[in-house]
Amino acid sequence: MTPSAEALVKQGLLFRPIEGINIERLVLIGFRGAGKSRMARQLESRIGWRAISTDAEIENRLRMTIREFVKDHGWPAFRELESRVIREVCERQQVIVDTGGGVVEREENMALLTRNAVVIWVDAPEAVLVERLREGNDRPLLTAQNWEADVRENYQRRLPLYRRYAHLYVNTARPETKELILNYVSTLGV
Ligand code: S3P
Repeated sequence: MTPSAEALVKQGLLFRPIEGINIERLVLIGFRGAGKSRMARQLESRIGWRAISTDAEIENRLRMTIREFVKDHGWPAFRELESRVIREVCERQQVIVDTGGGVVEREENMALLTRNAVVIWVDAPEAVLVERLREGNDRPLLTAQNWEADVRENYQRRLPLYRRYAHLYVNTARPETKELILNYVSTLGV
């Protein structure tokens, strides 16, 4: 069933109006492990726009993993590269931009990503994210000393940023909210 905007507002899934936006891109933001890439592929098959992962784009260019690059060059060098990729991706139209979890840390990224775009925050409760990331979390730590504190601390710090930029909200631990958002986005005429 396709929900109305009012119904989404009531359920806390629509934060700000979408009417009047000349939608050139759909942008997915949210923490690591929340399910952005999966959602991007689902949107791709629903609406036919191409999904672009900025992380994959960065790794293709580097010919190495983000992990290897960060180990040698540090996070600031990674953030520079990420911003460059975002500048390029935002020149494209009719694409779904699947961003890295830290993209909200830089205002310049978000100024570009929010222009002529609908922003979807793909989220899950903190405890669920911790469980999902417990296995195979081989990412270099962002700020804290151990991986669980790193996840919790950065998730809490970024929450208000994700909230600030998003139009729509999806909790992937509640698949029915995802279905509602997929259906709603299909009605936006993109
Ligand atoms: C990061 C998340 C990663 C990737 C990089 C930094 C972060 O993306 O961009 O390792 O700062 O949280 P995903 O959210 O796609 O895992």
